[in-house]
Amino acid sequence: MIRNEELEKVIDESQQGSPLTLESDEKNSRKLYIESYGCQMNFSDSEIVASILAKEGFNTTQDLAEADLVLVNTCSIREKAEQTVRKRLEKFNAVKKTNPGMKVGVLGCMAERLKNKFLEEEKIVDMVVGPDAYKDLPNLIQEIDEGRNAVNVILSKDETYGDVAPVRLNSNGVTAFVSITRGCDNMCTFCVVPFTRGRERSRDPQSILEEVNDLWERGFKEITLLGQNVDSYLWYGGGLKKDFEKASEMQMATSVNFAKLLEMVAIAQPKMRIRFSTSNPQDMTLDVIESMSKHENICNYIHLPVQSGSDRILKAMNRLHTREEYFELIDNIRKIIPDCAISQDMITGFPTETEEDHQDTLSLMEYVKYDFGFMFAYSERPGTLAERKLEDDIPEATKKRRLTEIIALQQKHSLYRTQQHVGKVEEVLIEGSSKKSDTHWMGRNSQNTVVVFPKENYQVGEFVNVKINECTSATLIGEAQGLSKNN
Ligand code: SAH
Ligand code: F3S
Repeated sequence: MIRNEELEKVIDESQQGSPLTLESDEKNSRKLYIESYGCQMNFSDSEIVASILAKEGFNTTQDLAEADLVLVNTCSIREKAEQTVRKRLEKFNAVKKTNPGMKVGVLGCMAERLKNKFLEEEKIVDMVVGPDAYKDLPNLIQEIDEGRNAVNVILSKDETYGDVAPVRLNSNGVTAFVSITRGCDNMCTFCVVPFTRGRERSRDPQSILEEVNDLWERGFKEITLLGQNVDSYLWYGGGLKKDFEKASEMQMATSVNFAKLLEMVAIAQPKMRIRFSTSNPQDMTLDVIESMSKHENICNYIHLPVQSGSDRILKAMNRLHTREEYFELIDNIRKIIPDCAISQDMITGFPTETEEDHQDTLSLMEYVKYDFGFMFAYSERPGTLAERKLEDDIPEATKKRRLTEIIALQQKHSLYRTQQHVGKVEEVLIEGSSKKSDTHWMGRNSQNTVVVFPKENYQVGEFVNVKINECTSATLIGEAQGLSKNN
């Protein structure tokens, strides 16, 4: 499966494992090839799509040449992500010459952004399906089977897939994603997500718990609760987050926020590791940090994108917090969870960004010393407020130079952070073989740092205490000291 580079660090090794084979019955005669790009939510959505299509008689395949249906779950976040998808469509076109019956569908954010235009721009495409319309796939496939193009890009007001049990694709059998919110209301001025994924809505906590319990029963040991902005999770019986003020007193009194959801999940499965992503600084509250500190099984790691260290740029980005408020949040995290890892997303070259603004980003990074980060040059996205109101005025060379500088600084901080683990004994959950050595396991500690160590007799899915002996800026290297009490 192809991945987009910024995800490599997050899901790289964890995506290893044998391809999933679906149980076939006499109906299961067609082959689905599905490829995902972009955020973890897309990878998670592809599992929902595979589940919906399994009921329609589709088995997944990893061989493009034998596919009856090719689906590509797309990303619009930066122009490069869209170009990558268009290149893949060219490849599918070439394959179609030897496999003329093959149909091609585009899913996800590019589908939502381009709608019918996709059919005109890319002749290979038979079907365009937005992120909230996957339940309509059986009907849409019938349409294309009958020789018509099919499009559904209607966005929903409700959490759309709470009742679909995802099929785990390329699973390592140990870690899984569980989506808890869809859409985003934050309207950061650079970001296309609110347009492609619609308004924010939360999933019923009961259905989240059912999915988590089911994963535990099937041997999974770690879950990541997913949302564009998890701290904004709010369940009051369904409906859009922005309509909460219209809810009844009863609904308000029994509502569940993110801190509460975290506790519910942590208590329901006390031996399961719990992670979550992504947190937005303006929505993260102290009670979330308190919940993390109270429950041993909630991992000590927060992905806390800031995008810029300059107050002026934060404002222009419509990030609703200041640099000082961000520092306060960081201080609180460090006070309540001293060994909490923190990672960032940054953008260089947002319109009007001066050298002084850039220096503010570097000094913010010095203050936090992130464990790792995902850094990007600004890419203007059609339809966003920044595109409509601001000129993309920073030369590409300047964006790139600033990007190189923040990546170099992050590298230094990453090494500083990994060095703090050397000499310690840490609990690691084994996810699979190390990519570089068959004789070593790869797993992660609570802080989400990759740890490799000799296999001995340990098994995938076991929690092992590992003594850390050495490190690079991205990996800890150690040796097992025995099973942890958590098994
Ligand atoms: N809240 C989301 C953010 C999605 S976008 C989440 O779940 O992670 C991921 C990252 O892409 C953002 O944090 C931002 O750093 C980057 N990004 C978004 N739009 C961008 C753009 N127009 N140009 C460059 N980077 C962008
Ligand atoms: Fe995008 Fe900002 Fe939401 S980055 S996904 S609009 S929090």
